[in-house]
Amino acid sequence: MLSSLFTPIALGEIALANRIVMAPMTRDRAGPGDVPTDLMVEYYAQRASAGLIVTEGVQPSEVGKGYWRTPGIHSEQQIAGWRQVADAVHAKGGRIVMQLMHCGRVVVSANRGFAADVIAPSAVPCPVQVPGPDGVPADCALPRAILAEEIPALVAEYAQAARNAIAAGMDGVELHCASGYLINQFLNPASNRREDDYGGSVENRIRFPIMVLQAMANAIGAGRVGFRISPGNPYNGMDPSDPAATFGPFVQAVDALGLAYLHVVDMGLSEFDTLDLLHASFSGPIVANNNLKGDSAAALLDAGRAEAVSFGRAFIANPDLVERIAAGAPLAKPDYTSLYTGEDRGYTDYPRFAG
Ligand SMILES: Cc1cc2nc3c(=O)[nH]c(=O)nc-3n(C[C@H](O)[C@H](O)[C@H](O)COP(=O)(O)O)c2cc1C
Repeated sequence: MLSSLFTPIALGEIALANRIVMAPMTRDRAGPGDVPTDLMVEYYAQRASAGLIVTEGVQPSEVGKGYWRTPGIHSEQQIAGWRQVADAVHAKGGRIVMQLMHCGRVVVSANRGFAADVIAPSAVPCPVQVPGPDGVPADCALPRAILAEEIPALVAEYAQAARNAIAAGMDGVELHCASGYLINQFLNPASNRREDDYGGSVENRIRFPIMVLQAMANAIGAGRVGFRISPGNPYNGMDPSDPAATFGPFVQAVDALGLAYLHVVDMGLSEFDTLDLLHASFSGPIVANNNLKGDSAAALLDAGRAEAVSFGRAFIANPDLVERIAAGAPLAKPDYTSLYTGEDRGYTDYPRFAG
């Protein structure tokens, strides 16, 4: 029943008015210094009727930046910019968490505008091209392997980014452990060829991700920290085979931290049912994502397969997605040419449903 989408729920310390979550979406519109702009404030405020907004991926440090015009949360100006976003969403009764996304090896150097190392678990380049400044696909840089003695500082960067997000007025943070970025690079044997305590066995490959989540929970409280995974997703050169072998133990270990929620991009794997596997390993609420519509999303809630649901692309073209689903109104389609370019075009200019 569609009505299940409109009941409140608490994800840890974060109280949602409904169960419709806006999925994180990179839109490449940050201003100079990777600072959020007024246009970004307007974009998020337009979508504040979501039970929860997860922001686009935000780099916890300069080195974490891999794409063109992605925002950061490591400078005073960035914190001030995000405060405008959080305040605008809260003024409309919404909730918002920041997704922390360190790209690791998924870096086109020209996207950065500064010189800094490209770092990854191992010196293995991302085998796929990603968009450069002009949107044209370009090769990723060759990363250098992170030194074991650098790990504590890297963990501390994430903890500081979580504190900065809270200082900016965010309701919490979501650690991006999906889609082949730094945390996923540690989890996956294709990108993690280390022979020290952080590579090899599954216990070793999950070590750094767990340290980061633990540090973020210590910094701002476990009830304000969520994490996102995409088991079996080959994106950005991940080896998609045998996801249960890694994600079973990883999610069980995270469960002990008592985090606010688990957000999963369900790849519809044939080997096992992702939501069943995760519910067996994780005792907190699960936010399910991927290709959902109002009725399929409600069916997941009714069957107890998820506690909340997230929509990505539907939120791009439908700022009032929650109201449209409630009214059974038709959904507009996004313009795919302006996902990562166009300033207000294809960003803040999608109208609300007129009836
Ligand atoms: C333009 C665009 C940007 C995205 N950026 C991110 C991101 O920064 N972080 C992330 O975890 N997922 C990102 N995603 C994936 C979405 O969060 C979501 O998992 C995906 O769109 C599938 O959900 P949907 O079928 O409801 O669109 C992005 C998707 C799109 C379309």
